[in-house]
Amino acid sequence: MRQNHPSYPQVALDFMNRDHEEFAALRGKLLDLIDSGTADAIDGLLDELQRHTVRHFADEEKAMQEAGFPVYAVHKGEHDAVLVDMAARIEGWRRERDIAVLRDWLDAAVGEWFVSHVSSMDTVTAGFIAAQRQRS
Ligand SMILES: [Fe+2]
Repeated sequence: MRQNHPSYPQVALDFMNRDHEEFAALRGKLLDLIDSGTADAIDGLLDELQRHTVRHFADEEKAMQEAGFPVYAVHKGEHDAVLVDMAARIEGWRRERDIAVLRDWLDAAVGEWFVSHVSSMDTVTAGFIAAQRQRS
């Protein structure tokens, strides 16, 4: 079965959970559109996914810096790599218009990255920041 709407864990900060839900919904909407053969709205939704991701990463990074998160550079490094890959994939889609390649990227790479990033780095980061906020 295809995982257009995968499950992922909740973390200790509400703003992150809200953003993760929005990201998962946008990815699911894109995959649903591709599956239903409605390619028209794809460009706009891809832009939205990219804008959302840039803004969400910036918010997480700000929260990490404010809390003095010790492995900020590692988490930020993963964000940067994802943004570079996302920009290249979107550019590739605009150039080639290969819907199978786009689908495969969203389905496999993006889906796996999202679940594993939320389960590991985001879970640890949110736990640290939430504990820090409780102390202060
Ligand atoms: Fe993150």
